[in-house]
Amino acid sequence: MSRGSLLVTDLSVQRSGRVLLHPTSLQISRGERLGLVGASGSGKSTLGHALVDTLRAQGRRVAHVPQSPDEALDPLRSMAFQWREAERALGLAPDYARQQQLCTALRIAVDQLGQRPWGWSRGMQQRFVIALALLGTPELLVLDEPTSALDPVIAARTMKLLDSVLAHGQTAILLITHDLGLAARRVDRLLVMHDGHIVEDAATAALLAHPRTPAASALTRHRSWLTLPC
Ligand SMILES: Nc1ncnc2c1ncn2[C@@H]1O[C@H](COP(=O)(O)OP(=O)(O)OP(=O)(O)O)[C@@H](O)[C@H]1O
Ligand SMILES: [Mg+2]
Repeated sequence: MSRGSLLVTDLSVQRSGRVLLHPTSLQISRGERLGLVGASGSGKSTLGHALVDTLRAQGRRVAHVPQSPDEALDPLRSMAFQWREAERALGLAPDYARQQQLCTALRIAVDQLGQRPWGWSRGMQQRFVIALALLGTPELLVLDEPTSALDPVIAARTMKLLDSVLAHGQTAILLITHDLGLAARRVDRLLVMHDGHIVEDAATAALLAHPRTPAASALTRHRSWLTLPC
């Protein structure tokens, strides 16, 4: 294994006797950009959670933007409190300049940080969770449908911010998305999930040009994804 890469072997998940994730091994290189696509219910979020839990248990620094902000936010605590908790968990001193910078970039109103999550729209909550994920310098950032609650303008701006933050190349990303266009322009390698299995794992351009499985063909069939603007 190359230095700095992340490795999990034989991850699997079962719930109520049903296998949601069949044994899956994955190696992610330092700074690699990976996309995880597949039909709804194929197991993408299940794999994302299992990967985050396993790597954290190995002591690796992993940030996670879960599919729903509810999973990341405590409804009883103010946003400001949750920001401070996130800093504390990362061993960071309060840094108001950094807070201001991230909030401005993600169009988060700093004067509303005293509110609790239920006072915020889903899109605002999602941007807040992305801001928290960018506080540290994780080895891996797992983004599960990070722009699903955002309007197209804010979504494009958010992805641009993520691109610039990740440009230094130390942080790998796993971008979980239904939006193959979004993934195709940003990731080097695509994983396709179907029914709890990774059924394809290939360089983005190769996979889009020559999908080998019905699951990948179904995702790529109707559009020329690489030419989409966002
Ligand atoms: N806590 C749970 N208990 C039982 N089954 C679950 C649980 N969470 C997810 N599942 C099932 O696991 C399968 C995979 O779900 P998962 O959320 O990982 O899919 P997904 O690919 O992320 O879907 P989507 O694209 O809709 O987000 C689904 O069939 C779902 O019903
Ligand atoms: Mg999901």
